[in-house]
Order: sequence, then C-alpha cells, then structure tokens
Amino acid sequence: MHMVIVLGSPRRNGNSEMLAKAVAEGMESEGGTVEYLRLNDLDIRPCQGCGGCDKSGECVVKDDMTEIYGKVDNADRLLLVTPIYFYAMSAQAKIFTDRMQARWSRRYNLKNRFRQGEGRRGYVLATAATGGGKLFESTELCARYLFDAIDMECGESLLVNGVDDRKAVREKLDELTRARSFGEKISRGEL
Ligand SMILES: Cc1cc2nc3c(=O)[nH]c(=O)nc-3n(C[C@H](O)[C@H](O)[C@H](O)COP(=O)(O)O)c2cc1C
Repeated sequence: MHMVIVLGSPRRNGNSEMLAKAVAEGMESEGGTVEYLRLNDLDIRPCQGCGGCDKSGECVVKDDMTEIYGKVDNADRLLLVTPIYFYAMSAQAKIFTDRMQARWSRRYNLKNRFRQGEGRRGYVLATAATGGGKLFESTELCARYLFDAIDMECGESLLVNGVDDRKAVREKLDELTRARSFGEKISRGEL
C-alpha cells in the first residue's frame, strides 16, 4: 500500500511533520510505502478559476502540481498534514486542495470515476496550539471535499492540540505513539 504524505507546514521538522514521520514509520513497519510532498518547497500557484480543466479534468497551469497530480493518482492513501492557522488549514495546504479542482472536474464534469472500488482513502493530520472545540472543523470539512474530488473515501483524522513551539510534540510521547499506531493501522487496512 502506497501513501502520499502532503506536508502543509512551512516549518521543517515541526509538530505536524514529526507526527507525520511517526505515521510513516508505522506504515512502513507494516510493509507500506510512503512518499513526501513538501508543499512549501514547491512552486504551486493558487487555482486561477479559469475553467481550463472543465472539459479535460487536467489543470492548464503548468508548475510543480503537474507532477503531483500523477503522484496522487498513483496513491492508495493520502495523508494531508497541516498546522491550524486561524482555525483553518495552512495556505500551502489550501492551495494544494484548490488545485484539485481539476480532479473535481474529472469526477463531476466528465463523470469519470477514478480507480473506483479500490477503497482508496484520505486522512487529515492536523496540529494546533490551543484547545478550542471547533479548532479542526474547517480543516476536516475542507479535506472531506478534497478527498471526494480525488475519488478517495474520507478516513479518520489524527488531530493533536496543545502543541505550539516547533518541537513541542517531542514531549508528547503518547501522541507520537498514537501517530505510529495510526500508520500501522492504515497499512494493515484497518483505518
Ligand atoms: C499564522 C499562524 C496562525 C495560527 N493559528 C492558530 C489557531 O487559530 N489556533 C491554534 O490553536 N493554533 C494556531 N497556530 C499555532 C499552530 O497551529 C501550532 O503551532 C502548530 O503546532 C504548528 O504546527 P507545525 O509545527 O507543524 O507548523 C497558529 C500559528 C501560526 C504561525
């Protein structure tokens, strides 16, 4: 089972990335494979709303997303990893999400169902500093529609709050263990 891990934080080795690495370790320990996309290092323009994908399901903007479409198509699982910024996903994660409008067009304009019946699935991993009840709502809702557009089922989320400083999650061994177990379960097809 192959998982694409989309890192949406600008921070290298920050909280969300450390948790994502624990998920990856769990995944690999059960025989799965992972591939990281670090959005902040890539050249990805926001969706231009140009309608260029309406009839083809392919984006006409040529940048680093061009290769990413193929990687996401090839994935059995997708992990969208983001810090919470102002109660939403990071701008990097949202730009990635919006660019999947091309895949929305493939599914809903062209009526082309992609790898249907294979049980492909997407998950959110999000971190936040505080503990508000609705901290993750916007991100989970947005991601649910992303997964639908790319023809993946929406799996469980891994949500960790109370982590702010860059490596705060290093002190939270229980959360790192939970993340590793999350990856193991994904790989075993239990999540
Ligand atoms: C621009 C910005 C906005 C943020 N907004 C929120 C917020 O609305 N709620 C919250 O709990 N934490 C907020 N945070 C804190 C981050 O979500 C938190 O530090 C997170 O663990 C960072 O993950 P990372 O280390 O993977 O980047 C914000 C941080 C930044 C830089």
